[in-house]
Amino acid sequence: MSSLSIVRTRADLRALVSSWRRDGKKIALVPTMGALHAGHLALIEQAKASADVVIASIFVNPTQFAPHEDLARYPRQEAADIVQLEAIGCDGLYAPHVEELYPDGFQTRIVPGAVAQRLEGAFRPHFFGGVATVVAKLFLQVDPHVAIFGEKDWQQLQVISAMVRDLDLCVEIVPAPTHREPDGLALSSRNAYLSEKERAIAPSLKQALDWVADTIKQAPTTLNSVLEQAKAQLLAKGFHAIDYLEACHSETLEPWQVGDPARILVAAWLGKTRLIDNRGLD
Ligand code: PAF
Repeated sequence: MSSLSIVRTRADLRALVSSWRRDGKKIALVPTMGALHAGHLALIEQAKASADVVIASIFVNPTQFAPHEDLARYPRQEAADIVQLEAIGCDGLYAPHVEELYPDGFQTRIVPGAVAQRLEGAFRPHFFGGVATVVAKLFLQVDPHVAIFGEKDWQQLQVISAMVRDLDLCVEIVPAPTHREPDGLALSSRNAYLSEKERAIAPSLKQALDWVADTIKQAPTTLNSVLEQAKAQLLAKGFHAIDYLEACHSETLEPWQVGDPARILVAAWLGKTRLIDNRGLD
């Protein structure tokens, strides 16, 4: 029998979490926008290893989508998500209606700092403000001891870590490695948008990251020309636009200098689908 408790209101959430806290349980939160795949399930496994009870949230957060983006067509499959959460032994699901997070009169937002300005922030200026605001609200509503975030969204992980540090939020952020298909494509709910032809091209993104990493490990001073060659290769493979392919300081996300801890990050368009990925240099 399933022991997944599903709550949709702040009052029911509070009652559930309070009972866990009364029992002295360590609570882990896995925030998601649903359309769960093996990558999310790996986050839940990591949460189970980090705490006594695990609560996932499913909320397609409107404030992190610009009007021209894919909010309306973002995949929603709550019944299938619940089956997966039950099967993996998740303890709780918080699936609020939009009014629980953004009631009438809502007007206060988190404004992330420098780490949110470049890369995704330059192409999606509304994005990290929306993410930080909803994540701060989820932390305050759920009050978890730990929260798990995937390294697939590397810049998001840095933005949230900075917010927790800067605002003295009492939650430990636990990063989880990117989960990949056997051909290297990072798992993402948006992969569902890819046509068969686009799906065959998509693994080139990870190959480009690996090639850049291997090449600049040997010859760091060739970075700029290596990045330009990698972009040209992606375009030749069938990507139609590259928003960015950059090597950055892994925490500040400022442009990489020799000696910095490095992260290479990419965002590129395959048809109407925007894919992001990243990797470290070691
Ligand atoms: O990574 C996501 O799925 C979302 O950005 C998050 C953290 C759940 C906030 O809506």
